[in-house]
Amino acid sequence: MWRRSVATGYMCFGCRSGGPKGFPGFHAMPSCSVPAIPAGKITALQAMGIWRRHFEKRGVTETEHSCNYIIAHLLGAKTVESLERGKLTEFLSREKVEQVWKLCTRRLSRMPVQYVIEEWDFRDLTLKMKPPVFIPRPETEELVDLVLTDLQKKAGTGGDTQHTCLEVGCGSGAISLSLLKSLPQLKAIALDKCQAAVNLTMENALRLGLDDRLQIYHIDVMKDVETLLSLCRPISVLVSNPPYLFSEDMASLEPEVFRFEDHAALDGGKDGLQVIRQILTLSPQILSNHGRVYLEVDPRHPLLIQPWVEAHVEGLHYMETRHDITGRPRFCILQKEKSLGDRELCLGLRN
Ligand SMILES: C[S@@+](CC[C@H](N)C(=O)[O-])C[C@H]1O[C@@H](n2cnc3c(N)ncnc32)[C@H](O)[C@@H]1O
Repeated sequence: MWRRSVATGYMCFGCRSGGPKGFPGFHAMPSCSVPAIPAGKITALQAMGIWRRHFEKRGVTETEHSCNYIIAHLLGAKTVESLERGKLTEFLSREKVEQVWKLCTRRLSRMPVQYVIEEWDFRDLTLKMKPPVFIPRPETEELVDLVLTDLQKKAGTGGDTQHTCLEVGCGSGAISLSLLKSLPQLKAIALDKCQAAVNLTMENALRLGLDDRLQIYHIDVMKDVETLLSLCRPISVLVSNPPYLFSEDMASLEPEVFRFEDHAALDGGKDGLQVIRQILTLSPQILSNHGRVYLEVDPRHPLLIQPWVEAHVEGLHYMETRHDITGRPRFCILQKEKSLGDRELCLGLRN
């Protein structure tokens, strides 16, 4: 049984899309009074009850799920549902009680539960999580599905099966590692401007035994263009869940996100398109012919991206917008087409 965020979309232990969400007073650190550790013996179920009530009193979100995931983790399972029968009503050792208090106190400070238990599930992978590296969200699993479906379709129609994928902004490695796990022929290059993300992707790749088909680079796509172009091409698939929040929405983030996750993973500039524009500008130089770009974006973005690409990026064709399971336009697919220059060159060569 896999750990899932409670709500769909980004409404998970603090979220970033779906519009700004006000949180009164989130800039102030809460007073973290912690319930006293009971003197006598207690069961896991009783400990969960104490902490659930305390979280509710202190305004911590997702109280039930937070308690459940912390207790399950400490008892060696992913979810309380998958624990052995009777485990929840057994008395906890003193050491376990202290661990419950330690982890729940972290959650009380509004640390996301994924950082508290230091791991999370993404598709069929369990990934190590470390602050401030971005916690993968459920809709990104849909982005991976889009890429997989297209690549599997190509393989099914006898197309090329030797693909190389580039991921811009790999975070914990969720996207690249999922693709590598599902496609044994695939090779991937993952890059991020954050050293902690590069390290975490490497750690997750090694833990999952997927490091032999993955190259990881510490590259800032806004600045290290020459390095990027020399190391990362030709590529048949460019995938990215870039920072895409509008800067003005940053102030409305849940405390879990605002205090603990890297702002550079979220803030996409004034219109949320700063990194996206750079990716699209570089794409024709990075992609092989008919190579595709798959982007996760804010629902307001597809209508801005399409005309911008048509006006500014020669050789890149906006193919389609895809919606997430809640019906919001969240994914853009573009394809490299021969530019005028290429066509003229071909004609010139033929003559
Ligand atoms: C929204 S997170 C996505 C992380 C991961 N792909 C996922 O879906 O869980 C965006 C990532 O892009 C990285 N990033 C932001 N600006 C970047 C830039 N200019 N160059 C490279 N990476 C960048 C951040 O460090 C962060 O890890």
